[in-house]
Amino acid sequence: MKQILIINGPNLNLLGKREPDIYGNRSFVDYLKTVEPLFPDVQLRYFQSNHEGELIDKIHELGFDVDGIVINAGAYTHTSIAIADALSAVTAPAVEVHISNVHARETYRHHSYLSAKCKGVILGLGLMGYELAIRSLL
Ligand code: DQA
Repeated sequence: MKQILIINGPNLNLLGKREPDIYGNRSFVDYLKTVEPLFPDVQLRYFQSNHEGELIDKIHELGFDVDGIVINAGAYTHTSIAIADALSAVTAPAVEVHISNVHARETYRHHSYLSAKCKGVILGLGLMGYELAIRSLL
């Protein structure tokens, strides 16, 4: 059975409550319940943390075993060379996802340290971006 690791970074545990005009009003756990049946032959492994080191540890732990990584590193996208290095270190290909169109927002959100380490980037399509990222990795 194929395995895809979905990683969400800081503040994404608040999806559904956090700035719903930008991020929508659905929690990620609720969204995941609708995605899992779309991929009955795939084990989706979900991890969220607000801590940079924990995100890196999870990439190290599973990034040599899973078939792909879907990552929304939240604000660490724009700051973390360490998460970019972790993605380079492991063998699983990664797709970067952003719920919002970061290029239509503040300029400090325009740069991503992760994009160059990823197979592709999906942004601005809301939660649907995660499903599209999974499909592309499969
Ligand atoms: C985000 C965009 C980031 O700039 C922001 O810090 C987030 C969420 C998105 O999914 O649109 O936390 O990654």
